[in-house]
Amino acid sequence: MASWDPGQYARFAGPRLRPAADLVARLPDRAFRAGLDLGCGGGQLTALLAARFPGLALTGVDNSPDMLAVAAKKMPEAVFRAGDIGDVALGAGFDLIASNAAFHWLENHRDILADLMAGLPADGVLAVQMPRNHAAPSHTLLAETVAEPRFAARLSGVQGIRPVEAAETYASLLLDAGAGEVDAWETTYIHALAPAPGSHPVLEWVKGTALRPYLDALDEDAAADFTAAFREKLAAAYPVRADGGVLFPFRRVFFVATRRP
Ligand SMILES: C[S@@+](CC[C@H](N)C(=O)[O-])C[C@H]1O[C@@H](n2cnc3c(N)ncnc32)[C@H](O)[C@@H]1O
Repeated sequence: MASWDPGQYARFAGPRLRPAADLVARLPDRAFRAGLDLGCGGGQLTALLAARFPGLALTGVDNSPDMLAVAAKKMPEAVFRAGDIGDVALGAGFDLIASNAAFHWLENHRDILADLMAGLPADGVLAVQMPRNHAAPSHTLLAETVAEPRFAARLSGVQGIRPVEAAETYASLLLDAGAGEVDAWETTYIHALAPAPGSHPVLEWVKGTALRPYLDALDEDAAADFTAAFREKLAAAYPVRADGGVLFPFRRVFFVATRRP
């Protein structure tokens, strides 16, 4: 998990920031004592939280040293530290826990989210966004490529993105875990991706996230073959427009849950 490439991820900084902004927009207007950003990456959500709640003490946790270095440079006033977001103990002492596009990497994220909710103080808030695009061609075609006999044996143990449930599943589990109020929703963004000469815009997007663990597991030649095979499938599913760009529908699930008093 340490091989995140902040540069590749940042190529789509605009469309990737939009869901974080939409999440922050739904946070209640009140003072918090301490805020935690889980899977903070380069500090994108952390910065939005700082702008929305000036003066709030903020901590970001991530397991990628490269991402943490970017975050620390961008926001010297916040604390950034290495940790695994599967460790529920991280939530202790915070009354605002937020996360943008990180929990879908954890197989047991439902249990972790329920435990974080249960551990919040009265009126504490848990606010999370996760991509829910695993039924879209960007992800089904990735799974298809992984299953090709020439790659399957080498990729069998690789941990990819975990399927994310419908918003109502999270609403229900958070109410069971102690939430008094839950605001949960799903949105499909239509990202208008810019041309990617010599590649395909959706391939470049996925390279920054879902494709990463698979390329890490292959040697250079096999990674090139894998990328070419995947790119061919993507090109058929996401036709390039006359301007060279591509329209890329992308579904995401959100919730903002407040702990019962
Ligand atoms: C898609 S990026 C999102 C970064 C940031 N939250 C944003 O809004 O742009 C996912 C981040 O989650 C981190 N991550 C994934 N699994 C993790 C884990 N188990 N523990 C800590 N960080 C993790 C990755 O290192 C990466 O920085």
